[in-house]
Amino acid sequence: MAIRIENNVSLRMYNTFGIDAAAKTFAVFSDTEELAELLHDKAYTEDTPFILGGGSNILLTKDIERPVLLNRLKGITLVNEDENFYYVKSAAGEVWHSFVLHCIKNEYAGVENLSLIPGSVGASPMQNIGAYGVEIKDVFHSLEAYHIKEHIIKEFNATECSFGYRESVFKREQKDQWVILSVTFRLLKRAQFRTDYGAIQEELDKMKLEKMTIKAVSQAVINIRTSKLPDPKKLGNAGSFFKNPVVSLEVVNKIKENYPNLPVYPIDEQSAKIPAGWLIEQAGWKGKNRGTHGVHDKQALVLVNYGGATGKEIFDLSTDVLTDIVSKFGVTLEREVNIH
Ligand code: EPU
Repeated sequence: MAIRIENNVSLRMYNTFGIDAAAKTFAVFSDTEELAELLHDKAYTEDTPFILGGGSNILLTKDIERPVLLNRLKGITLVNEDENFYYVKSAAGEVWHSFVLHCIKNEYAGVENLSLIPGSVGASPMQNIGAYGVEIKDVFHSLEAYHIKEHIIKEFNATECSFGYRESVFKREQKDQWVILSVTFRLLKRAQFRTDYGAIQEELDKMKLEKMTIKAVSQAVINIRTSKLPDPKKLGNAGSFFKNPVVSLEVVNKIKENYPNLPVYPIDEQSAKIPAGWLIEQAGWKGKNRGTHGVHDKQALVLVNYGGATGKEIFDLSTDVLTDIVSKFGVTLEREVNIH
């Protein structure tokens, strides 16, 4: 079947903010052959293609002029195992949470803390997704990616991905050069429960379990997330809009003079990470409603589209928040969401 290239396609269904921007050129690929064929097509060779996965970490402030490709590669396979690990390969177009559920069902441990994160498997290493004390890099084995111009497939190991906090080489030096095809995870045969982070233990206690399981940890995470974070199917959002800033201890102490309750996550002797959501709440932005959009009322790090907001409006709100946080705390926040 010939691949369909469409024009002027609304991307509203393809970004979790639910912004109604359009793609001038749009096609879906479901296998590597289709991807290769599209990347040789004139419609895709004239400008750098824009690869869309789950659309859960993007704010569209305008239409996309670059040709858009939607990654719909599917399939999860156990490719190898040894005494301690299962090596599980997932195609990039799988929904992240479906992959997590597959792991839980098969007793592959390690991703249960990452339950219910929106987005696709292919996007997960791009920004080294993380939650409740676990990041992708902790369970990552390798990934396969297709080079857009050179038409070669390369395997990347963890070092080559150069993961950082919500960062990887694919957001920096190698930006827009590769299409991630699959990710292989190294998952534990014997679970090591990570319940030290914040509310997890508290939630597990409430569940009155007879036996600790990865399914229970996953359920605890799901309970916490659903109580704080809006479901993108009901309320447009892209998770945390800003990163938690790393600041010097001098800045920490300065803020603490006026706000002794500031939560601080020490990094080393000179610096610490502080929660952007806390700063935004203290500055009075939590629950701020600008009609079509606003700051979520249960988690100030999340900006939401109440319906009909433009990407530009949400971007402007984020700028107002940023400016206010600089003036009140002397801290410059960095956006976590990719702005187009
Ligand atoms: N806080 C407030 N007010 C708020 C939000 C947070 O005071 O409105 C305080 C909390 O009370 C807590 C601290 O800030 O003391 C941290 O809050 P929380 O545990 O909710 O996590 P976060 O730092 O706001 C990060 C990640 C989330 C991840 C959670 C849990 C980033 C940018 N965000 O949020 O990831 O789910 O930790 O691990 O690192 C995402 O990246 O999209 C995302 C949702």
